[in-house]
Order: sequence, then C-alpha cells, then structure tokens
Amino acid sequence: MSNPIFADNILEGKVAFVTGGGTGITGGVAKAFAEHGAKLAITSRKIENLESMKAMIESFGGECFAVAADVRDYDGIENAIKQAADKFGKIDIVVNGAAGNFLCAADQLSSNGFGTVVDIDTKGTFNVCRAAFEELKKSQGQILNISATLHYLATPMQIHVSAAKAGVDAITRNLSVEWGRHGIRVNGIAPGPIEDTEGMKRLLPEPLKEKITKKIPVGRFGRIKDIENAALFLTSDAASYINGVTLVVDGGQWLLGTSLG
Ligand code: HXC
Repeated sequence: MSNPIFADNILEGKVAFVTGGGTGITGGVAKAFAEHGAKLAITSRKIENLESMKAMIESFGGECFAVAADVRDYDGIENAIKQAADKFGKIDIVVNGAAGNFLCAADQLSSNGFGTVVDIDTKGTFNVCRAAFEELKKSQGQILNISATLHYLATPMQIHVSAAKAGVDAITRNLSVEWGRHGIRVNGIAPGPIEDTEGMKRLLPEPLKEKITKKIPVGRFGRIKDIENAALFLTSDAASYINGVTLVVDGGQWLLGTSLG
C-alpha cells in the first residue's frame, strides 16, 4: 500500500462513513482508510464529486459506496446512513468533513452567508452524528470531526467559519462525554494550512504562499497525507483511550499567532 507508516490492515473489518469524502482533505482520509482495510461510504452534495474517489478506491480492490446527501438535510443524511449500514451491515467510523468556506469581511457578510456556513459545518456535523448514533452505539464506534485552527485566535474574513468550527469543537467535547458512556469515542483534527486543497485555494492566493511558508515553524505547508496519518492514528486501536481531543496538525502555525493573510 502507499502508506508504509501504518500496517495495511489497521482498519480491516471496519466500515467508515465520510462526509465530503470525495475530494480534498476528507477525500484523502477516505482513500487512506480504504487503503488500510476499511469499507467506505462517502457522501457529498453532488454525486459527481464522489465518482473519481469511488473509482480510485475500487481500482486498488477497496469497497466504496457513494451516496449524494446534503449534511444540512437531516432526513437525507439519515437515509444515506441507513443505505450505508444496509450495504455493509454496520458503521464503525464517522468522519465529518463536509464544510463550506469563502472569504468575506464581517461587515459585508449577510446573515444568510453566516448561517449557511454554520449550517453546513456545525449543524451538519451534529446531524450526521445524531443520525449515526444508533449504528455507532451498536458497533462501539467513533466519530472524527474535521475542524480548523482559525478560531483559536482571530482570523479576519473568516468570522463565519471560525464560529462554525468553534461549534464543531464544542460538539466533539460534548459528545465525547455523553457518548463515551456508550462506547463511542469522539475526536477531532484541526488542520493548519494544507496545500492542494479547495480551502487553501480560496483562502490563499498562490503568490502569498512563499511568504506564508516562512511563518510556519516547520518550514512547509501541510500535506493531505499529514491529515490522513493523524486520522489513521486517531481511528485505530492505538488511540483507544483518546476521547474528546481535537488534534492540531499544523506544523505549529497557530502558536505563532500569524494570520494566513
Ligand atoms: C460572501 C457569500 C459568498 C462569498 C456565498 N455567500 N458565497 N457571501 N462571499 N464568496 C453567501 C450568499 O450570498 C448567500 O447569502 C449565502 O452565502 C448562501 O449562498 P448559496 O450560494 O446559496 O449557498 P450554497 O450553494 O448552499 O453554499 C455556498 C457555499 C458553498 C457555502 C459557498 O458553495 C461552499 O462552501 N463551497 C466551498 C466548499 C469548500 O471549499 N469546502 C472546503 C472548505 S475548507 P445571501 O444573503 O446572498 O442569500 C474549510 C477549511 C477552513 O472549511 C480552514 C482553512 C485553514
């Protein structure tokens, strides 16, 4: 397999349901899970965003079920989870990766613009967790929420995403306590600046990349692979006593307090 750090079969026998699993960071996580033995159900608003990931997973012998669903639509998500559980018999891991983002100053942002991102990121995360609860209780499964570091200090032009991801972190902590009792672990990952992602393309014009690189303590942008590795660790049995944590994977970037812009 392409990642020699973890054993190929580290997720053998597991079924993962990944929102936003067709592209970007969570696409990488879905692929890495499949490479390490998991069966995958991936969702996105548009089925065409899932087709190439499904084909890639199947090309190396993995199993992948692609289903269109909008995380803002509870009934649609509930139905997608039911279809995935019917197909694979269970769900062990839920990854909340579906997210919305654009740059906009607070004094230009409409109430609906703010609400749209909160609905996708925060309410969408709750919807998926809530709809998957019974399956996760049965499997003694776990949840991995993809967050950000934007809200640790303050990131101009990102009030909507910062508020939304702060809410995601609250969901991670609350559910880890409430659902830990049911045998469900709930953790998060807060990626820093990760190159070759839609989020970075939207937030960071290419000419600024070199300047920003100098502001990252480890001297490079993150790679999707860095998030894949963190996700494999957190969802593996190696992390069986880790619950309620949002693991920052940013090369130390946020600690310097430097805005990306
Ligand atoms: C200001 C905007 C806007 C923009 C949308 N809106 N784009 N406001 N600037 N660029 C406003 C609209 O005007 C509207 O408000 C409201 O948001 C809803 O817009 P719609 O287009 O109707 O919504 P919808 O199609 O449902 O979704 C819009 C979207 C979505 C949220 C922008 O298309 C999207 O997120 N796409 C990007 C997906 C993405 O990049 N995901 C990766 C996220 S990266 P009004 O008032 O006009 O009705 C990430 C990482 C963060 O999250 C951390 C990085 C370090």
